[in-house]
Amino acid sequence: MQSILNTQYFNEYFTNGFIDTGVSLPDGLLEDMKNHYKNVAEVRNDYPQYFTKNEHQAYLEGKITGSLFSLLPGLANKMVTKLYSKSYNKAIHLEQTFIEKVCSHLLQQNCQRFFKTRFIVASYDIYLGNDHNHRSFIDIHSDIPNFHHFYETENDITVYIPLIDVNEDNGGRLAILPESKCKLKVPGNVLLRLFEDAFLNIPAYLDENGYIDSDKIDATAMKNFINGAPYKALMENYKISTNFVRDYYADKFIKNDWQAGQVVLFNNKTFHAAETWRNPDYNREIYMIRLLPIYDAKIQLKKTLHGSQFNKYLIDTQTGSIQLYQDSVDLSKIPQQEKLKLRA
Ligand SMILES: [Fe+2]
Repeated sequence: MQSILNTQYFNEYFTNGFIDTGVSLPDGLLEDMKNHYKNVAEVRNDYPQYFTKNEHQAYLEGKITGSLFSLLPGLANKMVTKLYSKSYNKAIHLEQTFIEKVCSHLLQQNCQRFFKTRFIVASYDIYLGNDHNHRSFIDIHSDIPNFHHFYETENDITVYIPLIDVNEDNGGRLAILPESKCKLKVPGNVLLRLFEDAFLNIPAYLDENGYIDSDKIDATAMKNFINGAPYKALMENYKISTNFVRDYYADKFIKNDWQAGQVVLFNNKTFHAAETWRNPDYNREIYMIRLLPIYDAKIQLKKTLHGSQFNKYLIDTQTGSIQLYQDSVDLSKIPQQEKLKLRA
């Protein structure tokens, strides 16, 4: 994270686990967002769609044995759907209606000063809604590196905005394990290296700029990669690290009271957990935007996820601007010297 954040803000992140931007959403925008998501069907939950390719087994360890997915995918999918519908009333990914509005507001308030790296992709957004009968993600975890976005890194930054107050009375706070309290972190960037090592030397999988286009990789090659020793070792590392943190660092997590509309930044690859929502009168509502720093990996961003286009916004922290692209941001057009070094 030292290469992503300017020193002062890196220190804040390192010590507290998050950066308080000091920015709140304007009241009108906050209301617009709540109304927008109120009108999305109650039962919509996009999480199970992430399981179709079977990469979240490690996360499910302890809830479902990983092998169930291979042996009985139909049953496993039903179990996953049940698990997630117990967690959230609504989990809505990739609406993207508010990415530009929220990011523009942050840039107007000079939030680009937090960043050392120049270009950042605003990849997709997530809305999570749950009442007090839904548990949300209260188990300690870090968001697992996966193949659905192909460009998640260990240094992703999440713009995290509670749309309601989270505090001792309401519950619903985000508990974070700051790096100052525990150095253990899953080395997600190794996945990009493994991906390059596996596919960059096969011309059929590359686009016209010589970047890996994940849509061109045939199913067997992908399966071999997933079942290969390096990827399995990474997943094993994820499981062991998560269990270790659950066993020995559970008392080191920090919870903070945040107000409706308050914008904070955190890294979803650090360990975190949601607090149970206690207020029976209204729902917990969280809005997030996933920001991806850009490395010099020769891996092109994916263009669609679950049928929606994404990865379309590019933030330039030098000019303080955000640009919308017709398709996903073309990483081959970003000057090499403006990218972070994957293998440095
Ligand atoms: Fe998470």
